[in-house]
Amino acid sequence: MVKVITYGTYDMLHYGHIRLLERARALGDYLIVGITSDDYDKTRGKINLQQSLMERIEAVRATGIADEIIVEEYEGQKIDDIRRLSIDIFTVGSDWEGYFDYLNEYCKVIYLPRTQGISSSELRAEKRKLTIGTIGEGNLCKKFVREMEFVNGVEYKECANSLDGVDAVYIASHPEHHYADIKCALESGKHVICESPVALSVTQYKELIELADTNHLILADAIKTAYSTAYSRLLVIAKSGSIGDIVSVDVVCTSLVDGAGEPDTDLSKKQNSICAWGPVAMLPVFQLLGIDYRDVQIISKQINKTLYYDAFTKIDFQFDKAVASVKIAKAAKSEGELIITGTKGYIYVPAPWWKTDYFEVRYEDSADNKRHFYQLDGEGIRYEIVAFAKSVESGQNSLYINRETTQAITGVIEKYYRGEFVEI
Ligand code: CTP
Repeated sequence: MVKVITYGTYDMLHYGHIRLLERARALGDYLIVGITSDDYDKTRGKINLQQSLMERIEAVRATGIADEIIVEEYEGQKIDDIRRLSIDIFTVGSDWEGYFDYLNEYCKVIYLPRTQGISSSELRAEKRKLTIGTIGEGNLCKKFVREMEFVNGVEYKECANSLDGVDAVYIASHPEHHYADIKCALESGKHVICESPVALSVTQYKELIELADTNHLILADAIKTAYSTAYSRLLVIAKSGSIGDIVSVDVVCTSLVDGAGEPDTDLSKKQNSICAWGPVAMLPVFQLLGIDYRDVQIISKQINKTLYYDAFTKIDFQFDKAVASVKIAKAAKSEGELIITGTKGYIYVPAPWWKTDYFEVRYEDSADNKRHFYQLDGEGIRYEIVAFAKSVESGQNSLYINRETTQAITGVIEKYYRGEFVEI
């Protein structure tokens, strides 16, 4: 019996796939189809599949062409499969010509001509066409536009003078302008993804949410860290009880990038420390401990009190069964780490934790420690764009930051702007 194996993602199964499967089957007597897992696809840069692994498996199964279906989960698995399953022929489409020649050592490799004029990427792009413009200046917008290129069906359109012709807008203006910019976009019928803090008061935030809901629009809080694989895995691990009960979350975010601490810097156009770093630093606190804190105390070292410009701010939270501390600064430097203390162990995320691909779960006995590595592409921004586009398309929230969390972040920032902090 001649055993044939082929691999693919098979997202939105199309006739190019079916023709490939039929020809693969005809090469032998028994066809095994390897379908890539969602995680493996993510590491290969295929990030916005329309269908889940189960749906893709079902679609291939329904063709009746495959004798067996397996899941491809890791790099190098093909060699393992070929040996384990005693494969005679490995085949894929000619778009991979030459790429799998190394498998000739284990079986025969055949590249079949690819069907012209169709691909999952094109189908995805046709299905979802979302045009996004940007408001604001600088690196954040540039990065966002660059990352859009990795997401099928999302397209950048300049919208310097008018929002006409865009479906959605990414806002990275000065935080004091967020409220007005978002309001204007929502009133013009545009979906919004805005850098955090979305607003500087809870009342304003609630008003914006209401406006978004009334107009059936998505309003997303852009904190890219929420979309990094390592960060979302560490939330799950911390909540699963593997370090016991969480008793403390300690977060540090600092940067000395735009001369905030220098005497002749014009601070009026720059973001203060609490806006630049507060939202991302408070994210793990609220996502791990919830939003119902008993008490919060803000301690701040000001550079310019009229502008509410803080050099360094410390925020201390007290919850019923845990505490949290957040240290943020644009004119002071410290180690940007995240530590989650539990009753059985702790999670340590090294600096800069907000864009990490790695963390450790540590215990009293270091032999029990576990290191976790993940891939981080585009600092999480491209996954954030995928989630935003998905939400817009489905009209349902696929975002990783819920409204309660955004509101809790806004609440603390509002307290700061009301001057409710201790000065040092
Ligand atoms: N294939 C083909 N003809 C096409 C599209 C795909 O023969 N028009 C083959 C590929 O060469 C591969 C298999 O089908 O052997 C599964 O490919 P997959 O990557 O899942 O499909 P694509 O449509 O190429 O997906 P994408 O656009 O996401 O890369």
